[in-house]
Amino acid sequence: MNHISQLIGCGSYLPEQVITNEELAKKVNTSDEWIAARTGIKQRHVAKEGEYTSDLAYEATLRAMEHAGVDASEIDLVIVGTTTPDRTFPSVAVRIQARIGMTAGVAFDVQAACSGFIYALSVANDMLRAGTAKTALVVGADTLTRLLNWEDRTTCVLFGDGAGAVVMRAAEVENKSSANRGILSTHIHSDGKLEDLLYTDGGPSSTQGIGQIVMEGPEVFKHAVRNLAEVVIEALEANDLKDDDIDWLVPHQANKRIIDSTARKLKMPQEKVVLTVQNHANTSAASIPLALDQAVRDGRIKKGDLLLMEAMGGGFTWGSALVRW
Ligand code: UT7
Repeated sequence: MNHISQLIGCGSYLPEQVITNEELAKKVNTSDEWIAARTGIKQRHVAKEGEYTSDLAYEATLRAMEHAGVDASEIDLVIVGTTTPDRTFPSVAVRIQARIGMTAGVAFDVQAACSGFIYALSVANDMLRAGTAKTALVVGADTLTRLLNWEDRTTCVLFGDGAGAVVMRAAEVENKSSANRGILSTHIHSDGKLEDLLYTDGGPSSTQGIGQIVMEGPEVFKHAVRNLAEVVIEALEANDLKDDDIDWLVPHQANKRIIDSTARKLKMPQEKVVLTVQNHANTSAASIPLALDQAVRDGRIKKGDLLLMEAMGGGFTWGSALVRW
């Protein structure tokens, strides 16, 4: 028998407040035309004062638990991918653990910037397969707008806030590749040499406060295109699959041009790509589970569909997950 972890439910949450490109253009020297043409973004959701990452994560969690039909007493692992915890500590994950009324198990955060969800999913997958836990809640949640310099037009137009969650369960199957649902593979990578291209200029151990995002956009763009092309091929090869075996690309949503490039690499038509960047902007670790939840709930993604998820973020970090829904 083989151990596999299955995704049995999903949920997501976006803060109510929406800021359109036109509204941003009144505050900083930019335009709807520039933002839409260079990124695909039209608007973003922004958490209001007093609304924290754990609040968004909690709402997404409730929806995912309801969708999966699981109770807090069944969950024995919570992993939250986030770079913007409410407090330096405790983690967002333990706050969620307390709020849903979990009395056992472990909870911790994983920090991998925009790749946070893929990293969290990968760690949870390994723990479920190893038998360390049986039912996991995996959340991607960020309030990256808290790290923006709203006068820097090269970064402030790009990000939004949100959260998405999945419930995962360990299962035994005869043969992993023939399993009718579950995670077929995850691959995660990092390269710390490239930190200078994307970072925050502060943090808890520095004297600058929490800091703000600094990015060499065009350089990050080039690395994203290259790394994502490599990581999707890596996922296909590891599973002996071809481009057209994939039903849906569920990518990290940083820039439509980056997503188009990955889709071209996979020869995937636009209709097979779940795109939310126009409405959400880049929600960092939340973007993949937000996109997944949207496409599951509107009926595009169906049971048995093969999904390829990929992300790239600060660090650099990047990775993929291949999932039979
Ligand atoms: O989540 C993972 C991490 N992040 C990413 O993956 C982001 C990767 N990078 C990108 O998505 C793109 O590089 C950006 C969207 C950030 C920038 O797009 P670009 O096509 O690479 O533009 P650019 O930085 O080369 O800038 C082109 C011009 C510049 O003006 P000049 O020098 O040509 O006169 C910029 O100053 O556009 C200017 N510009 C803007 N103009 C209007 C930069 N930002 C803006 C803006 N509005 N918001």
